[in-house]
Amino acid sequence: MDFLYLDHIGMEYDTEGKKLISIKDVSFSVKKNEFVSLIGPSGCGKSSIIKMLLGLIKPTRGSIYMNGRKLGENEERISVVFQNPALFPWLDVKKNIEVALEPFIKDPDRREEIALKYIKIVGIDGFEEAYPKELSGGMKQRVSIARALATSPELLLLDEPFVGLDVFSAQAIREELLDLWGSPDLPPNTVLMVTHNVDEAVQMSDRIIVLSARPSTVLGEMRIELPRPRNTRSDDFYKTVDDVVKLMSSA
Ligand SMILES: Nc1ncnc2c1ncn2[C@@H]1O[C@H](COP(=O)(O)OP(=O)(O)OP(=O)(O)O)[C@@H](O)[C@H]1O
Ligand SMILES: [Mg+2]
Repeated sequence: MDFLYLDHIGMEYDTEGKKLISIKDVSFSVKKNEFVSLIGPSGCGKSSIIKMLLGLIKPTRGSIYMNGRKLGENEERISVVFQNPALFPWLDVKKNIEVALEPFIKDPDRREEIALKYIKIVGIDGFEEAYPKELSGGMKQRVSIARALATSPELLLLDEPFVGLDVFSAQAIREELLDLWGSPDLPPNTVLMVTHNVDEAVQMSDRIIVLSARPSTVLGEMRIELPRPRNTRSDDFYKTVDDVVKLMSSA
């Protein structure tokens, strides 16, 4: 069995007696060290899948396996970066990262050391003592990434992390994240990213899984074989983007 396996997941929400089937039947897997993107129309349950993986909600059908065991049976280390960096406004940058380490690392000096290491890695050194309100959107997102990576997660989840950023910051952070993913001695190793942006998915992923509109199923998946780092202006790139768009509209 692959590192991560979603086995016939279904999600039905019940609001005031009204049932809404968000996910009808979705199965897919992610291999260790793979970068996989999940793409699909609004409301098809992408964020719901992220919440299931975080253990925040349970699928109403099916099971999720990680490392061959049902999710929750092991102490999986899973981190997430959301569209809106959920930082504690009353804590400075360093403390925002240190708190995420508290469950794993008892020694405060070690927590500080790790926080400083990741602050440097994501390029926000000099801002250790700044508060979130003093940071730009891109810098806040860098803090979220540092916090997500500092715990050395086995799996990094990204839920449209570049949506709120200007195109230049988004592109810079995408490239930095890909560099980190490509460094064997640094996290992340395995990534599952939710996005609406086909170019972004093609630039970053080994494989793209395309979901249908609600109630969602898997429309298909595409392996992206373009050599890395990817030239986002090449004919091959445009052609691949086109193929993904075709798959998305094949429902
Ligand atoms: N807690 C909830 N209670 C009731 N319905 C919910 C709840 N959470 C999500 N839904 C519904 O389930 C569907 C899927 O929501 P979800 O947020 O997973 O979609 P998504 O694919 O992430 O969409 P988007 O691309 O807009 O972020 C939506 O129709 C949403 O209204
Ligand atoms: Mg969503």
